[in-house]
Amino acid sequence: MGNTVTITYNGQQYEYPIVEGTMGDIAVDISKLRGETGLITLDAGYKNTGSCVSNITFLDGEEGKLLYRGYPIEQLAEKSTFVEVMYLLLEGELPNQQQLADWKSTLNEYNFVNERVEKILNGFPSEAHPMGVLASLTSALTAFNPKSVDPSKHTDMYHAAARLIAKFDILCAWTYRKSNNLEIVKPDTSLDYVTNFYQMMFKKDDNFEINPVIVNAIDKLLILHADHEQNCSASAVRLVGSSHAGLFASISAGISALWGPLHGGANQAVIEMLEMIKKDGGGLQKWVDKAKDKEDNFRLMGFGHRVYKNMDPRAKIIKKAADDVLDQLGIDDEVLDLARGLEEVALRDEYFVERKLYPNVDFYSGIIYRALGIPAEMFTVMFALGRLPGWISQWKEMRQNGEPIGRPRQVYQGATTRDYVDISNR
Ligand code: SDX
Repeated sequence: MGNTVTITYNGQQYEYPIVEGTMGDIAVDISKLRGETGLITLDAGYKNTGSCVSNITFLDGEEGKLLYRGYPIEQLAEKSTFVEVMYLLLEGELPNQQQLADWKSTLNEYNFVNERVEKILNGFPSEAHPMGVLASLTSALTAFNPKSVDPSKHTDMYHAAARLIAKFDILCAWTYRKSNNLEIVKPDTSLDYVTNFYQMMFKKDDNFEINPVIVNAIDKLLILHADHEQNCSASAVRLVGSSHAGLFASISAGISALWGPLHGGANQAVIEMLEMIKKDGGGLQKWVDKAKDKEDNFRLMGFGHRVYKNMDPRAKIIKKAADDVLDQLGIDDEVLDLARGLEEVALRDEYFVERKLYPNVDFYSGIIYRALGIPAEMFTVMFALGRLPGWISQWKEMRQNGEPIGRPRQVYQGATTRDYVDISNR
């Protein structure tokens, strides 16, 4: 393939370089386009537009492949741990024994939250959605950690990431406890990260027993959610961070972006949809038909993806894990059967086949969260907890690459120039 693209415009030819990725993705670099031709590109939702060069995550939507720093998600989900995957995303390599031990002890060093944060938390009504509370508390952490991060200094960035990750699971667990009018449970630094999160979420008294099936399931789900290249919330973190806004403020923006039902909020919407279908009792085809009806704004939540035009590899892993976890916990959840049936009906339907709409990461995850005793309004918080190391890695890469402030252009189609009309003449 040639290494340039030629654009002919107004009788002139312009050449733009091709940029090749290490896994075969290609792009045309149009950074000089406007200066040379006066043209900009227009691409609502950036469906055809790359925002950056990145070394963190690769996904192939056609093949349904996902790699974190080159490692297939299937291998990481089976062989790694969330704490190890955090390090991999942030540092670019799997840690050796010493590096992992140092990382874990650094996380422990920051495993506390200023008691005034609890007072802020108490100020929210218990019915406040946990994602709104979490976005506010994350931004509020800046007040207790005012020193800004210098991403060019490895130690600065390493400790800033550890500080935020170590406090974030506490904020998640405490948000859950408060919204259920439960006393908060303090972090226990003798436990590993995920087990500590689990006890902060569910411990009721000193007889509380750690269930390894639940801890392992949460660990696997957090690995599967840890990063996903330039998705909506990662792009929000990069864009906000490109103005050199602080790390905590940028992550707070990512939490808000993830909350939307078209993005991370879909995992909650899937369970609400399945419960509605179960209650309706009108059969599955009726809902698949509703999702196809352009006059009806109902969509099959958990189906379709901007990039995957094949089964989301994470959905495949989670679907299998749902079986195992429900089996190990001895739970028979008919909503899982409903989900499987809905997948079958949809994937036989021309509308879904033609548009390559497959189950995505959100379709089955809620079923596992529910089996683990996590309520639906906390599902997207679980997504955020998993995605945090990915967001931080994206922010770090954007700053370390010295990327310019993000400022897209537009095509204006509003009123042409006109003079002010005094109110007496309007
Ligand atoms: C996540 O980007 C990421 O990587 C995100 C994520 C991550 O890890 O960060 O993977 C996590 O956000 C997963 C997606 C969760 N969202 C949902 O499950 C919500 C339901 N899905 C959709 O709303 C939709 O599929 C999106 C938002 C996910 C993708 O939307 P696009 O890429 O803008 O596609 P589109 O809306 O233009 O749809 C193309 C066609 C349209 O029909 P036509 O105009 O061609 O006739 O497919 C249809 C859509 O109407 N369509 C659906 C559908 N999704 C797309 N029709 C019915 N039900 C659906 N779910």
